Amino acid sequence: MYRLTDAQRARVRELLSRMTLEEKIGQMNQESMSIVGGFDVPFEELIEMLTDGRLPKEEFDKIMSTAKTDYHEDEVREGLVGSLMVQDAEKYNELQHIAVEESRLGIPLLIGLDVIHGFRTVYPIAIAEAGTFDEKLFQRTAAMAAKESRSQGINWHFAPMVDVARDARWGRVSEGPGEDTRLASRFARAKIQGLQGDMSSPENYVAACLKHYVAYGACESGRDYNTASMAPAQLYNVYLPPFRAAVEAGAATVMASFNDLNGVPCTVNRLTLRQILKGEWKFPGLVVSDANAIRECVNHGIAADQYDAGVQAANAGMDIDMGTRIYIKELKRAVEEGKVPLSVIDEAAERILSVKMWLGLFEHPYVSPELAARYETLPEAHLALAREAGERSIVLLKNENGLLPLDKSKKISLVGKLAAERTEVVGAWALSWRESDCVSIQDGFDNAGANYRYFPCCGPEGELDQAQLEEAAAWGDVIVAVVGETTAMSGEASSKADITLPGKQRELLEKLLAGGKPVAALLMNGRPLALEWESVHVPAILECWHLGVQMGNAVASVLFGDRAPEGKLASSFPRMTGQCPIYYSHPNTGRPGGKGKFTSRYLDAGWEPLYPFGYGLSYTEFAYDGLEVKDAGDTLMVSVDVRNTGSRPGVETVQLYTRDVTASIVRPVKELKDFAKAALAPGEQKRVTMAVQKNDLGFFNDAGQYVLEDGKFIVYVGGNSRDCLSQEIEVTF
Ligand code: NOJ
Repeated sequence: MYRLTDAQRARVRELLSRMTLEEKIGQMNQESMSIVGGFDVPFEELIEMLTDGRLPKEEFDKIMSTAKTDYHEDEVREGLVGSLMVQDAEKYNELQHIAVEESRLGIPLLIGLDVIHGFRTVYPIAIAEAGTFDEKLFQRTAAMAAKESRSQGINWHFAPMVDVARDARWGRVSEGPGEDTRLASRFARAKIQGLQGDMSSPENYVAACLKHYVAYGACESGRDYNTASMAPAQLYNVYLPPFRAAVEAGAATVMASFNDLNGVPCTVNRLTLRQILKGEWKFPGLVVSDANAIRECVNHGIAADQYDAGVQAANAGMDIDMGTRIYIKELKRAVEEGKVPLSVIDEAAERILSVKMWLGLFEHPYVSPELAARYETLPEAHLALAREAGERSIVLLKNENGLLPLDKSKKISLVGKLAAERTEVVGAWALSWRESDCVSIQDGFDNAGANYRYFPCCGPEGELDQAQLEEAAAWGDVIVAVVGETTAMSGEASSKADITLPGKQRELLEKLLAGGKPVAALLMNGRPLALEWESVHVPAILECWHLGVQMGNAVASVLFGDRAPEGKLASSFPRMTGQCPIYYSHPNTGRPGGKGKFTSRYLDAGWEPLYPFGYGLSYTEFAYDGLEVKDAGDTLMVSVDVRNTGSRPGVETVQLYTRDVTASIVRPVKELKDFAKAALAPGEQKRVTMAVQKNDLGFFNDAGQYVLEDGKFIVYVGGNSRDCLSQEIEVTF
């Protein structure tokens, strides 16, 4: 929990009283390492030139071999840098030494990094992990990541990302907990507890950074950085709650998003930053911009120039400028000209120093050699957790005639380039892993002692090798085809207008199926895909996402039946890309989707997703019965019998949804309120009970007020958001 003691607060104030204006503004400046060398264009442009083909790779490598890395040591010494991005303990100690020993006031640096789903030990990407519906797991992976990164001096994670995302075209769906507000809120809270919860030693915790505040996931048409517009009620009901939950759980920092919201970029948005976050929610921590976002306010057309952008950002409550140097260049003049009140600078500096104080950086600025070496070899416990998280994130989408699990002594043709790519298991936004720690699916087959031969055949890009394909189809008794997307196809700046299987992979599946052997498709991807064709033709489909360093072992456990699949979808899978955005919790139309002509549907894709939110099969089956909803005063007590009707053990995620039937604004057809796990042996039955607080049945109106309205509610319980038992109840508040 982010909270300072009175003594710490007094120390911050005392320090503040000794700071010059420049030093205060210096705290508001965040630098990252820059590459400098004998080239005429900025480094970013060099990268652009490499990416768009203007600069050949050999030429680029030649330039880089003479380039130098600048960590802004001189500015640190002058007290003009408050935070930096660094990845290793040696550099960290060097820079921290300059800040603490050589700057006038000895203020330590905050060191931030994108540690999104693990540091050295990379866990499943967030959209996969969210599908475990296990808050303890969310917390455990975060806590281990915090320890690993802090051993290198990184004391600030640019995580968790808690953007509700309902459009699978947006590449960043991979980084967040999916489409549902309630699941995202629980995920957010658990991550804060994991990252910040263990304050027994400064080695054990970091400052979390909630991002991207706010509505970044609502970018129009799923195109990254695009505009977002919505009514206040939608903002309050859908996009703000995960942030609020995490602020209430004690998150220390928040990052504003790139997008504009209703015409005002979130970087300079007084409503979301000053009024809601710092005002209504009384957020005590600091706010950082996203990278270069203050400068981009000129591109948005909301600021005339960099000076204007800096003034607007500071006044809106943006405490730290990530990467543009606009604050350091312009804010002093802005204060002198009366454009930014000194109180704004004081407030920002106080918030920043407070986070540093809370992190223990003033007492423990350095990393010891033993700490720096502690995770050099990944500890068994971290690997075991990565494997467990991986196994439990896998979602079984289809399993015709019980094709899975496979008998690993059968002859298996393992197909697909992705199966052997160690560097593809970690997913987007993983920065600090080592290839030598990564277990590919092929490695997993080896470790499990499977009887297989490997045929690369084709990947998400490039051609299909017909000869290999024929061999693969002929050799195995069963074929496992690993298909999907490369890591680079999801994550930031990776939106797609077509989310079917890329490249020749559909053709690969068609041809393998034509050989007549059973085919199981293993998907590796960072977003929901449009799999209508595959769902009809491929007998078994296992969604494996990007599961982190233990991916291959996790996949082998589930594929060969050592563990039953347990994961559920945190995001609906559309039938066709054109259905995006698609999500279960939609408001009803006057003409709900149906078979009739004049209903809300697509002529060519209906109105329902292919696989809904919360969906995921097991190797066994679960039956639901005996739903009971009781009014117990402040709560509704909801009970249901869940029975394992198959012949294997399994774990079911029991989901509870509600619907407010008639209200003063149109309410969603279903909203997740709670969930519970039931581990059941074959034939076993358990009565699962969940409680819904009645005051959790309200909603925000367009004035941002939370209202509770008496009336009829429907309670739904089931194993996914579509297939549920239901019961009506009259609720009075
Ligand atoms: C841009 C991304 O939007 C954000 O998620 C990330 O934390 C920053 N860059 C810093 O790398």
